[in-house]
Amino acid sequence: MKQLRFDFNNMFDFSIGKTHGVTDQDLQRIRKQAEQAHAHLQAILSDRSKRVNLCLEWAQLPFQDKAQVRQIQRLGNEIARRYENVISLGIGGSYLGLKAAQDALCPPYYNEFDGLRKGRPRIYFEGNNLDPETLSALLKNLDPRKTFVIVISKSGETTETKAAFAVVEPWLKKGAGPRYGRQIVCITDPNSGALRKKVNAHQAADPQSFRNLPLLKGVGGRYSELNMGLLHLAIVGVPIADVLAGAAAMSRRCAQPQLRKNPAYMYAALQTIAYRSKGKPIAILMPFAETLKSTADWYCQLLAESTGKKFSRSVKVNDQGREDWLMDKQHIVNLGRTPVPSRGTNDLHSIQQNNIEGANDKTVTFIRVESFTNDIRVPGAGDILSGQPFSRLLSLAQEATEWALVRQQRPNCTVIMPGITPYHWGGLLFFFEMATAFEGELLNINAFDQPGVEGYKNYMYFKLKKPGISSEISDEIKKNPLKKNKLFIL
Ligand code: PA5
Repeated sequence: MKQLRFDFNNMFDFSIGKTHGVTDQDLQRIRKQAEQAHAHLQAILSDRSKRVNLCLEWAQLPFQDKAQVRQIQRLGNEIARRYENVISLGIGGSYLGLKAAQDALCPPYYNEFDGLRKGRPRIYFEGNNLDPETLSALLKNLDPRKTFVIVISKSGETTETKAAFAVVEPWLKKGAGPRYGRQIVCITDPNSGALRKKVNAHQAADPQSFRNLPLLKGVGGRYSELNMGLLHLAIVGVPIADVLAGAAAMSRRCAQPQLRKNPAYMYAALQTIAYRSKGKPIAILMPFAETLKSTADWYCQLLAESTGKKFSRSVKVNDQGREDWLMDKQHIVNLGRTPVPSRGTNDLHSIQQNNIEGANDKTVTFIRVESFTNDIRVPGAGDILSGQPFSRLLSLAQEATEWALVRQQRPNCTVIMPGITPYHWGGLLFFFEMATAFEGELLNINAFDQPGVEGYKNYMYFKLKKPGISSEISDEIKKNPLKKNKLFIL
Protein backbone atom coordinates (compact mmCIF):
# COMPACT_ATOMS: atom_id res chain seq x y z
CA MET A 1 0.00 0.00 0.00
CA LYS A 2 1.39 3.42 -0.97
CA GLN A 3 1.71 5.65 2.08
CA LEU A 4 1.20 9.40 2.64
CA ARG A 5 4.37 11.41 2.10
CA PHE A 6 5.46 14.77 3.39
CA ASP A 7 7.54 16.95 1.06
CA PHE A 8 9.19 19.78 2.97
CA ASN A 9 11.78 20.98 0.43
CA ASN A 10 10.22 24.42 0.11
CA MET A 11 10.47 25.17 3.81
CA PHE A 12 14.28 25.33 3.56
CA ASP A 13 16.81 28.06 2.79
CA PHE A 14 18.08 26.16 -0.25
CA SER A 15 14.65 26.71 -1.86
CA ILE A 16 13.51 30.09 -0.53
CA GLY A 17 16.63 31.78 0.92
CA LYS A 18 17.92 32.30 4.44
CA THR A 19 15.56 35.14 5.50
CA HIS A 20 12.42 33.05 5.18
CA GLY A 21 13.71 29.49 4.90
CA VAL A 22 14.66 27.10 7.67
CA THR A 23 18.40 26.39 7.85
CA ASP A 24 20.20 23.27 9.05
CA GLN A 25 21.30 25.29 12.08
CA ASP A 26 17.66 26.14 12.88
CA LEU A 27 16.86 22.44 12.77
CA GLN A 28 19.89 21.63 14.92
CA ARG A 29 18.78 24.22 17.47
CA ILE A 30 15.30 22.71 17.84
CA ARG A 31 16.59 19.11 17.92
CA LYS A 32 17.18 18.95 21.68
CA GLN A 33 13.74 20.39 22.40
CA ALA A 34 12.23 17.91 19.94
CA GLU A 35 13.95 15.00 21.70
CA GLN A 36 12.54 16.16 25.03
CA ALA A 37 9.10 16.62 23.52
CA HIS A 38 9.22 13.10 22.08
CA ALA A 39 10.32 11.59 25.41
CA HIS A 40 7.58 13.48 27.24
CA LEU A 41 4.85 12.47 24.78
CA GLN A 42 5.95 8.83 24.71
CA ALA A 43 5.99 8.62 28.51
CA ILE A 44 2.36 9.73 28.50
CA LEU A 45 1.25 7.70 25.49
CA SER A 46 2.63 4.45 26.86
CA ASP A 47 0.58 4.68 30.07
CA ARG A 48 -3.22 4.51 29.89
CA SER A 49 -3.90 6.38 33.11
CA LYS A 50 -1.64 9.24 31.98
CA ARG A 51 -3.24 9.31 28.56
CA VAL A 52 -6.70 9.51 30.03
CA ASN A 53 -5.76 12.04 32.70
CA LEU A 54 -4.16 14.42 30.20
CA CYS A 55 -6.65 13.82 27.35
CA LEU A 56 -4.28 11.97 25.01
CA GLU A 57 -6.36 8.81 24.70
CA TRP A 58 -7.12 9.81 21.08
CA ALA A 59 -3.71 8.39 20.14
CA GLN A 60 -5.04 4.88 20.95
CA LEU A 61 -8.18 5.20 18.82
CA PRO A 62 -6.62 3.52 15.75
CA PHE A 63 -6.15 0.43 17.95
CA GLN A 64 -9.55 0.47 19.67
CA ASP A 65 -11.56 -2.61 20.56
CA LYS A 66 -12.75 -4.31 17.37
CA ALA A 67 -15.84 -5.82 19.01
CA GLN A 68 -17.04 -2.34 19.91
CA VAL A 69 -16.45 -1.14 16.37
CA ARG A 70 -18.49 -4.08 15.03
CA GLN A 71 -21.33 -3.14 17.36
CA ILE A 72 -21.28 0.43 16.01
CA GLN A 73 -21.18 -0.97 12.50
CA ARG A 74 -24.31 -3.06 13.19
CA LEU A 75 -26.17 -0.08 14.60
CA GLY A 76 -25.12 2.02 11.59
CA ASN A 77 -26.36 -0.63 9.17
CA GLU A 78 -29.67 -0.89 11.01
CA ILE A 79 -30.20 2.88 10.79
CA ALA A 80 -29.14 2.88 7.13
CA ARG A 81 -31.65 0.13 6.31
CA ARG A 82 -34.61 1.72 8.02
CA TYR A 83 -34.34 5.48 7.45
CA GLU A 84 -34.15 7.81 4.48
CA ASN A 85 -32.61 10.72 6.36
CA VAL A 86 -30.30 11.29 9.28
CA ILE A 87 -29.98 14.60 11.12
CA SER A 88 -26.66 14.83 12.93
CA LEU A 89 -26.60 17.49 15.65
CA GLY A 90 -23.27 18.72 17.02
CA ILE A 91 -20.71 21.52 16.83
CA GLY A 92 -16.93 21.95 16.89
CA GLY A 93 -15.26 18.61 17.53
CA SER A 94 -18.70 17.00 17.53
CA TYR A 95 -19.30 18.09 13.93
CA LEU A 96 -16.21 19.05 11.92
CA GLY A 97 -14.69 15.55 11.72
CA LEU A 98 -17.99 14.07 10.54
CA LYS A 99 -18.44 16.75 7.91
CA ALA A 100 -14.84 16.27 6.77
CA ALA A 101 -15.39 12.51 6.47
CA GLN A 102 -18.68 12.99 4.65
CA ASP A 103 -17.15 15.27 2.02
CA ALA A 104 -13.92 13.30 1.60
CA LEU A 105 -15.17 9.73 1.69
CA CYS A 106 -18.73 9.82 0.33
CA PRO A 107 -19.28 10.53 -3.35
CA PRO A 108 -19.77 14.25 -4.11
CA TYR A 109 -23.48 15.17 -4.23
CA TYR A 110 -24.16 12.14 -2.01
CA ASN A 111 -27.37 13.64 -0.62
CA GLU A 112 -28.73 14.58 -4.01
CA PHE A 113 -28.60 11.27 -5.88
CA ASP A 114 -30.05 7.88 -4.81
CA GLY A 115 -27.62 5.99 -7.04
CA LEU A 116 -24.63 7.54 -5.33
CA ARG A 117 -26.02 6.74 -1.89
CA LYS A 118 -26.67 3.09 -2.74
CA GLY A 119 -29.83 3.11 -0.67
CA ARG A 120 -28.24 4.73 2.38
CA PRO A 121 -29.75 7.76 4.13
CA ARG A 122 -29.13 11.40 3.32
CA ILE A 123 -27.12 13.13 6.05
CA TYR A 124 -27.96 16.62 7.28
CA PHE A 125 -25.67 18.42 9.73
CA GLU A 126 -27.40 20.80 12.10
CA GLY A 127 -26.85 22.19 15.59
CA ASN A 128 -23.59 23.73 14.43
CA ASN A 129 -24.93 27.29 14.38
CA LEU A 130 -27.66 29.36 15.95
CA ASP A 131 -28.82 30.63 12.56
CA PRO A 132 -32.55 29.79 12.53
CA GLU A 133 -32.90 29.54 8.75
CA THR A 134 -31.28 26.18 7.99
CA LEU A 135 -32.98 24.12 10.69
CA SER A 136 -36.40 25.64 9.91
CA ALA A 137 -36.04 24.81 6.24
CA LEU A 138 -34.87 21.28 6.97
CA LEU A 139 -37.66 20.38 9.37
CA LYS A 140 -40.29 21.80 7.04
CA ASN A 141 -39.10 19.45 4.34
CA LEU A 142 -38.24 16.18 6.07
CA ASP A 143 -40.70 13.47 7.03
CA PRO A 144 -40.09 12.69 10.72
CA ARG A 145 -41.23 9.09 10.27
CA LYS A 146 -38.39 8.51 7.83
CA THR A 147 -35.76 10.44 9.77
CA PHE A 148 -33.23 9.32 12.36
CA VAL A 149 -31.53 11.77 14.74
CA ILE A 150 -28.01 11.56 16.15
CA VAL A 151 -27.13 14.04 18.89
CA ILE A 152 -23.43 14.40 19.64
CA SER A 153 -22.23 16.45 22.58
CA LYS A 154 -19.42 15.37 24.86
CA SER A 155 -20.47 17.77 27.60
CA GLY A 156 -24.18 17.43 26.80
CA GLU A 157 -24.48 21.12 27.59
CA THR A 158 -23.43 22.98 24.45
CA THR A 159 -25.88 25.77 23.58
CA GLU A 160 -26.05 25.24 19.81
CA THR A 161 -26.62 21.48 20.01
CA LYS A 162 -28.99 21.77 22.97
CA ALA A 163 -31.11 24.43 21.28
CA ALA A 164 -31.31 22.46 18.04
CA PHE A 165 -32.26 19.25 19.84
CA ALA A 166 -34.92 21.12 21.82
CA VAL A 167 -36.55 21.89 18.45
CA VAL A 168 -35.90 18.55 16.76
CA GLU A 169 -37.12 16.36 19.63
CA PRO A 170 -40.76 17.65 19.71
CA TRP A 171 -40.79 17.70 15.90
CA LEU A 172 -39.86 14.04 15.91
CA LYS A 173 -42.31 13.20 18.69
CA LYS A 174 -45.16 14.92 16.89
CA GLY A 175 -44.43 13.23 13.59
CA ALA A 176 -43.25 9.78 14.67
CA GLY A 177 -45.45 9.19 17.71
CA PRO A 178 -44.82 8.13 21.30
CA ARG A 179 -41.98 5.73 20.41
CA TYR A 180 -40.03 8.53 18.72
CA GLY A 181 -37.09 7.94 21.13
CA ARG A 182 -36.24 4.79 19.15
CA GLN A 183 -35.24 7.12 16.31
CA ILE A 184 -32.58 8.83 18.41
CA VAL A 185 -29.01 7.93 19.30
CA CYS A 186 -27.04 10.16 21.65
CA ILE A 187 -23.25 10.24 21.85
CA THR A 188 -22.25 11.89 25.09
CA ASP A 189 -20.29 11.63 28.31
CA PRO A 190 -21.15 8.37 30.13
CA ASN A 191 -21.74 10.11 33.46
CA SER A 192 -22.42 13.82 33.29
CA GLY A 193 -24.35 16.53 31.48
CA ALA A 194 -27.95 17.40 30.62
CA LEU A 195 -28.00 15.09 27.59
CA ARG A 196 -26.80 12.16 29.71
CA LYS A 197 -29.64 12.82 32.19
CA LYS A 198 -32.16 12.74 29.37
CA VAL A 199 -30.67 9.53 27.99
CA ASN A 200 -30.80 7.83 31.38
CA ALA A 201 -34.42 8.82 31.94
CA HIS A 202 -35.54 7.52 28.53
CA GLN A 203 -33.45 4.36 28.81
CA ALA A 204 -35.02 3.51 32.16
CA ALA A 205 -38.46 3.55 30.55
CA ASP A 206 -37.50 1.84 27.26
CA PRO A 207 -34.00 0.50 26.52
CA GLN A 208 -34.60 0.98 22.78
CA SER A 209 -35.26 4.67 23.30
CA PHE A 210 -32.39 7.20 23.25
CA ARG A 211 -29.82 4.50 22.63
CA ASN A 212 -26.38 5.85 23.25
CA LEU A 213 -22.73 5.40 22.53
CA PRO A 214 -20.44 6.57 25.29
CA LEU A 215 -17.49 8.76 24.47
CA LEU A 216 -14.21 7.23 25.45
CA LYS A 217 -12.60 8.79 28.49
CA GLY A 218 -9.69 11.10 27.82
CA VAL A 219 -10.58 11.89 24.20
CA GLY A 220 -11.16 15.62 23.63
CA GLY A 221 -13.75 16.84 21.11
CA ARG A 222 -11.48 17.90 18.27
CA TYR A 223 -9.38 14.72 18.52
CA SER A 224 -12.41 12.44 18.56
CA GLU A 225 -13.44 11.74 14.96
CA LEU A 226 -12.28 8.13 15.28
CA ASN A 227 -14.53 7.78 18.31
CA MET A 228 -17.71 9.86 17.98
CA GLY A 229 -17.56 9.88 14.18
CA LEU A 230 -17.70 6.09 13.75
CA LEU A 231 -21.49 5.76 13.76
CA HIS A 232 -21.74 8.31 10.98
CA LEU A 233 -19.11 6.38 8.95
CA ALA A 234 -21.07 3.17 9.48
CA ILE A 235 -24.32 4.77 8.31
CA VAL A 236 -22.86 6.14 5.09
CA GLY A 237 -21.05 2.87 4.40
CA VAL A 238 -17.40 3.90 4.80
CA PRO A 239 -15.26 0.89 5.81
CA ILE A 240 -14.25 1.85 9.34
CA ALA A 241 -11.53 -0.81 9.48
CA ASP A 242 -9.74 0.89 6.56
CA VAL A 243 -9.87 4.33 8.23
CA LEU A 244 -8.49 2.86 11.45
CA ALA A 245 -5.81 0.88 9.57
CA GLY A 246 -4.59 4.07 7.86
CA ALA A 247 -4.51 5.90 11.17
CA ALA A 248 -2.67 2.97 12.80
CA ALA A 249 -0.02 2.91 10.07
CA MET A 250 0.51 6.65 10.50
CA SER A 251 0.61 6.27 14.28
CA ARG A 252 3.53 3.82 13.92
CA ARG A 253 5.41 6.26 11.67
CA CYS A 254 4.70 9.08 14.10
CA ALA A 255 6.15 7.16 17.06
CA GLN A 256 9.70 7.36 15.66
CA PRO A 257 11.97 9.59 17.71
CA GLN A 258 13.99 11.08 14.84
CA LEU A 259 12.63 14.19 13.12
CA ARG A 260 13.91 12.87 9.79
CA LYS A 261 11.79 9.72 10.09
CA ASN A 262 8.69 11.14 11.71
CA PRO A 263 6.52 13.19 9.33
CA ALA A 264 4.34 14.71 12.07
CA TYR A 265 7.31 15.79 14.17
CA MET A 266 9.07 17.24 11.14
CA TYR A 267 5.91 19.13 10.16
CA ALA A 268 5.52 20.59 13.67
CA ALA A 269 9.22 21.43 14.01
CA LEU A 270 9.39 23.26 10.66
CA GLN A 271 6.17 25.15 11.29
CA THR A 272 7.36 26.14 14.76
CA ILE A 273 10.68 27.42 13.43
CA ALA A 274 8.87 29.35 10.68
CA TYR A 275 6.50 30.81 13.29
CA ARG A 276 8.96 31.63 16.06
CA SER A 277 12.09 32.56 14.08
CA LYS A 278 10.92 33.62 10.62
CA GLY A 279 7.78 35.64 11.42
CA LYS A 280 5.16 33.28 9.95
CA PRO A 281 2.14 33.27 12.31
CA ILE A 282 -0.40 32.38 9.62
CA ALA A 283 -1.00 28.78 8.56
CA ILE A 284 -2.83 28.24 5.30
CA LEU A 285 -3.99 24.70 4.57
CA MET A 286 -4.74 24.36 0.87
CA PRO A 287 -5.81 20.92 -0.34
CA PHE A 288 -5.96 20.64 -4.10
CA ALA A 289 -9.20 18.66 -3.98
CA GLU A 290 -12.68 20.07 -3.54
CA THR A 291 -13.67 17.16 -1.34
CA LEU A 292 -10.90 17.91 1.21
CA LYS A 293 -12.04 21.47 1.90
CA SER A 294 -13.89 20.42 5.03
CA THR A 295 -10.85 18.44 6.15
CA ALA A 296 -9.05 21.81 6.06
CA ASP A 297 -11.87 23.27 8.20
CA TRP A 298 -11.42 20.38 10.65
CA TYR A 299 -7.66 21.04 10.86
CA CYS A 300 -8.27 24.74 11.47
CA GLN A 301 -10.26 23.94 14.59
CA LEU A 302 -7.62 21.44 15.67
CA LEU A 303 -4.77 23.92 15.36
CA ALA A 304 -6.61 26.99 16.64
CA GLU A 305 -8.17 25.45 19.76
CA SER A 306 -5.11 23.35 20.55
CA THR A 307 -2.31 25.89 20.24
CA GLY A 308 -3.97 29.31 20.57
CA LYS A 309 -3.22 29.85 24.26
CA LYS A 310 -2.80 32.79 26.63
CA PHE A 311 -0.71 31.02 29.28
CA SER A 312 2.19 28.67 29.02
CA ARG A 313 1.96 25.23 30.61
CA SER A 314 3.33 24.37 33.98
CA VAL A 315 3.82 20.62 34.47
CA LYS A 316 3.39 19.40 38.04
CA VAL A 317 4.36 15.83 38.89
CA ASN A 318 3.09 14.33 42.14
CA ASP A 319 4.77 11.65 44.30
CA GLN A 320 3.12 8.83 42.34
CA GLY A 321 4.53 10.21 39.07
CA ARG A 322 1.14 11.52 37.94
CA GLU A 323 1.39 14.71 35.86
CA ASP A 324 -0.99 17.61 35.95
CA TRP A 325 -0.81 20.43 33.46
CA LEU A 326 -1.66 23.81 34.91
CA MET A 327 -1.91 27.23 33.33
CA ASP A 328 1.14 29.23 34.35
CA LYS A 329 -0.66 32.48 35.11
CA GLN A 330 2.64 34.27 35.68
CA HIS A 331 3.47 33.81 32.00
CA ILE A 332 1.17 35.33 29.43
CA VAL A 333 2.45 34.01 26.10
CA ASN A 334 -0.50 34.48 23.68
CA LEU A 335 0.82 31.80 21.37
CA GLY A 336 -0.54 29.91 18.40
CA ARG A 337 -0.48 30.14 14.62
CA THR A 338 -3.64 31.39 12.95
CA PRO A 339 -5.06 28.74 10.63
CA VAL A 340 -6.78 29.62 7.37
CA PRO A 341 -8.67 26.96 5.41
CA SER A 342 -8.34 27.24 1.67
CA ARG A 343 -8.59 25.12 -1.48
CA GLY A 344 -6.95 24.82 -4.81
CA THR A 345 -7.59 25.63 -7.52
CA ASN A 346 -10.54 27.76 -6.36
CA ASP A 347 -8.48 30.07 -4.16
CA LEU A 348 -5.81 30.65 -6.80
CA HIS A 349 -8.31 33.22 -8.01
CA SER A 350 -8.73 34.86 -4.62
CA ILE A 351 -6.39 34.68 -1.59
CA GLN A 352 -3.46 33.43 -3.66
CA GLN A 353 -2.71 37.03 -4.71
CA ASN A 354 -2.13 37.84 -1.04
CA ASN A 355 -0.16 34.62 -0.47
CA ILE A 356 2.24 35.63 -3.23
CA GLU A 357 2.52 39.39 -2.86
CA GLY A 358 1.02 40.26 0.52
CA ALA A 359 2.92 40.20 3.80
CA ASN A 360 5.38 37.30 3.90
CA ASP A 361 3.88 36.12 7.20
CA LYS A 362 2.46 32.72 6.32
CA THR A 363 3.27 29.16 5.47
CA VAL A 364 1.15 27.28 2.97
CA THR A 365 0.57 23.55 3.38
CA PHE A 366 -0.74 21.87 0.27
CA ILE A 367 -2.44 18.51 0.12
CA ARG A 368 -1.74 16.95 -3.24
CA VAL A 369 -3.79 13.95 -4.39
CA GLU A 370 -2.04 11.57 -6.76
CA SER A 371 -4.98 9.62 -8.05
CA PHE A 372 -8.73 10.26 -8.26
CA THR A 373 -11.46 7.62 -8.52
CA ASN A 374 -13.15 9.40 -11.41
CA ASP A 375 -11.18 11.39 -13.93
CA ILE A 376 -12.39 13.26 -16.99
CA ARG A 377 -10.57 14.62 -20.02
CA VAL A 378 -11.14 17.97 -21.64
CA PRO A 379 -12.69 17.03 -24.98
CA GLY A 380 -11.80 18.31 -28.44
CA ALA A 381 -8.55 19.13 -30.15
CA GLY A 382 -6.51 22.20 -30.98
CA ASP A 383 -6.47 23.84 -27.55
CA ILE A 384 -3.70 23.45 -24.95
CA LEU A 385 -6.36 21.96 -22.66
CA SER A 386 -7.67 19.47 -25.23
CA GLY A 387 -7.20 15.86 -24.24
CA GLN A 388 -5.84 16.77 -20.79
CA PRO A 389 -7.19 14.82 -17.79
CA PHE A 390 -8.55 17.17 -15.10
CA SER A 391 -6.36 15.36 -12.55
CA ARG A 392 -3.22 16.30 -14.52
CA LEU A 393 -4.32 19.94 -14.74
CA LEU A 394 -5.01 19.96 -11.01
CA SER A 395 -1.57 18.52 -10.20
CA LEU A 396 0.07 20.94 -12.56
CA ALA A 397 -1.77 23.86 -10.95
CA GLN A 398 -0.50 22.71 -7.54
CA GLU A 399 3.07 22.40 -8.83
CA ALA A 400 2.76 25.83 -10.48
CA THR A 401 1.55 27.34 -7.20
CA GLU A 402 4.53 25.85 -5.37
CA TRP A 403 6.84 27.30 -8.00
CA ALA A 404 5.25 30.75 -7.79
CA LEU A 405 5.53 30.75 -3.99
CA VAL A 406 9.15 29.61 -4.07
CA ARG A 407 10.01 32.38 -6.55
CA GLN A 408 8.70 34.88 -4.01
CA GLN A 409 10.51 33.17 -1.09
CA ARG A 410 7.26 31.99 0.52
CA PRO A 411 7.61 28.87 2.70
CA ASN A 412 5.37 25.98 1.73
CA CYS A 413 5.20 22.23 2.03
CA THR A 414 3.07 19.42 0.66
CA VAL A 415 1.34 16.39 2.10
CA ILE A 416 1.05 13.89 -0.74
CA MET A 417 -1.97 11.58 -0.61
CA PRO A 418 -1.89 8.59 -2.95
CA GLY A 419 -5.70 8.84 -3.12
CA ILE A 420 -8.65 10.10 -1.08
CA THR A 421 -9.38 6.65 0.30
CA PRO A 422 -10.60 5.75 3.82
CA TYR A 423 -7.11 4.38 4.56
CA HIS A 424 -5.24 7.50 3.49
CA TRP A 425 -7.79 9.85 5.05
CA GLY A 426 -7.42 8.04 8.38
CA GLY A 427 -3.66 8.50 8.04
CA LEU A 428 -4.06 12.18 7.20
CA LEU A 429 -6.15 12.81 10.31
CA PHE A 430 -3.68 11.08 12.57
CA PHE A 431 -0.76 12.93 10.97
CA PHE A 432 -2.33 16.31 11.75
CA GLU A 433 -3.37 15.24 15.25
CA MET A 434 0.12 14.10 16.16
CA ALA A 435 1.68 17.16 14.51
CA THR A 436 -0.59 19.41 16.58
CA ALA A 437 0.16 17.56 19.81
CA PHE A 438 3.88 17.87 19.07
CA GLU A 439 3.54 21.56 18.21
CA GLY A 440 1.88 22.00 21.61
CA GLU A 441 4.87 20.34 23.25
CA LEU A 442 7.33 22.55 21.37
CA LEU A 443 5.38 25.65 22.42
CA ASN A 444 4.95 24.32 25.97
CA ILE A 445 1.21 24.91 26.05
CA ASN A 446 -1.67 22.55 26.83
CA ALA A 447 -2.90 21.40 23.42
CA PHE A 448 -5.92 19.57 24.87
CA ASP A 449 -7.97 22.25 26.58
CA GLN A 450 -9.81 25.33 25.27
CA PRO A 451 -10.27 27.74 28.19
CA GLY A 452 -10.63 30.72 25.84
CA VAL A 453 -14.02 29.62 24.53
CA GLU A 454 -15.54 29.98 28.01
CA GLY A 455 -15.62 33.81 27.77
CA TYR A 456 -18.46 34.06 25.27
CA LYS A 457 -20.32 31.18 26.93
CA ASN A 458 -20.20 32.89 30.33
CA TYR A 459 -21.48 36.13 28.86
CA MET A 460 -24.36 34.38 27.11
CA TYR A 461 -25.25 32.36 30.23
CA PHE A 462 -25.19 35.53 32.32
CA LYS A 463 -27.51 37.34 29.90
CA LEU A 464 -29.78 34.29 29.74
CA LYS A 465 -29.82 34.20 33.56
CA LYS A 466 -28.48 30.67 33.86
CA PRO A 467 -28.65 29.60 37.51
CA GLY A 468 -25.39 28.95 39.32
CA ILE A 469 -23.14 31.46 37.55
CA SER A 470 -20.30 32.34 39.91
CA SER A 471 -20.25 35.83 41.39
CA GLU A 472 -16.72 36.26 40.03
CA ILE A 473 -18.03 35.88 36.47
CA SER A 474 -21.17 37.94 36.92
CA ASP A 475 -19.23 40.75 38.64
CA GLU A 476 -16.70 40.82 35.84
CA ILE A 477 -19.48 41.12 33.24
CA LYS A 478 -21.38 43.77 35.23
CA LYS A 479 -18.26 45.87 35.78
CA ASN A 480 -17.10 45.66 32.19
CA PRO A 481 -20.10 46.15 29.88
CA LEU A 482 -19.54 46.49 26.14
CA LYS A 483 -19.22 50.21 25.33
CA LYS A 484 -21.57 51.26 22.54
CA ASN A 485 -21.22 55.02 21.91
CA LYS A 486 -23.65 56.14 19.18
CA LEU A 487 -21.01 58.58 17.87
CA PHE A 488 -18.98 55.58 16.89
CA ILE A 489 -21.75 53.96 14.86
CA LEU A 490 -22.41 55.39 11.41
O1 PA5 B 1 -12.57 20.31 20.91
C1 PA5 B 1 -13.47 20.52 21.70
O2 PA5 B 1 -13.52 19.98 22.83
C2 PA5 B 1 -14.62 21.45 21.36
O3 PA5 B 1 -14.48 22.00 20.09
C3 PA5 B 1 -15.95 20.71 21.43
O4 PA5 B 1 -15.92 19.65 20.54
C4 PA5 B 1 -17.13 21.63 21.10
O5 PA5 B 1 -17.13 22.76 21.92
C5 PA5 B 1 -18.45 20.88 21.29
O6 PA5 B 1 -18.53 20.42 22.61
P1 PA5 B 1 -19.54 19.27 23.04
O7 PA5 B 1 -19.16 18.04 22.31
O8 PA5 B 1 -19.33 19.16 24.50
O9 PA5 B 1 -20.92 19.73 22.68
